[in-house]
Amino acid sequence: MRGKKGRSFMTRPVKTAVIPAGGLGTRFLPATKAVPKEMLPVVDRPLIQYAVEEARAAGIETVVFVTSRGKAAMEDHFDLAAELDGALAAGGKEDLRAAASEMVPAAGALVHVRQQAPLGLGHAVWCARHVVGDAPFAVLLPDDLVLSGQPCLGQLLDVHREHGGNVVAVMDVPREETGRYGVLDVVEDDGRLASVRGLVEKPAPADAPSTLAIVGRYVLDPSVLRALDAHETGAGGEIQLTDAMARTVGAVPFHGLRFEGRRFDCGDRMGFLEANIACALARPELAPAAREILARFA
Ligand code: UTP
Repeated sequence: MRGKKGRSFMTRPVKTAVIPAGGLGTRFLPATKAVPKEMLPVVDRPLIQYAVEEARAAGIETVVFVTSRGKAAMEDHFDLAAELDGALAAGGKEDLRAAASEMVPAAGALVHVRQQAPLGLGHAVWCARHVVGDAPFAVLLPDDLVLSGQPCLGQLLDVHREHGGNVVAVMDVPREETGRYGVLDVVEDDGRLASVRGLVEKPAPADAPSTLAIVGRYVLDPSVLRALDAHETGAGGEIQLTDAMARTVGAVPFHGLRFEGRRFDCGDRMGFLEANIACALARPELAPAAREILARFA
């Protein structure tokens, strides 16, 4: 496989996923004052569980949570709870027992690192550098929930196996919304896969190089971590992941994938509400009752 400058690339397997969860979640106050945004439940499981399950379904072996003060509930959620397990076993509630324990990763497969100050998404990812090492890695933003047939990260990994470098999930957005996303500058686009020659974080609609916006799933070359070493701040005074990715353009292949599936911005109140409705309707055991409730409000 060859990059733009004729260099050849080996695609190495992606075994580690970083889940940044160190942010303040201000768009969801007051709910997120004492409860981490990532622990808000969509139907019956917290947002972060959807991200962990997606990573595991895509073959990821090690998950790194980047957390901050006040987020210890996430650590407890993914641990075994002997007292609860005993009570459920004694009550013969095997289905609930399985629900509470089957999502717990194998011992040592979940690593927690702290982001000591919310300096931005790029900084959060950089905090995981010693666990990631010099290998390609995935990033999943837990507040972007994606409902799809094949897990979104699995779709990106298929592209990564073929092309290597950086692969990001993208979707077409209305031009007036480009200021909410990292946006691609595209050199070629076959309607599914776009090859990237630049990126801009939160461009004003008039300045956006395209309307192809990055959503919270990435497979990244380790050179992105080295680009983050500089700690340069960008849009909003934060250390931006988009800026670090932009610094690797030309050095490694870079693609945006219009993934199959539907993404919900659960960091936003209406996106969160929509995700709850969509996830309930996607569950055969809940869908009929959910439809009945919705009909009452039609
Ligand atoms: P957001 O951009 O949604 O930021 O982060 P936020 O702080 O969580 O929420 P608002 O905008 O104040 O409402 C996307 C993901 O990146 C993480 C967040 O925890 C979230 O999962 N993040 C963001 C960090 O881990 N550290 C940061 O400094 C910023």
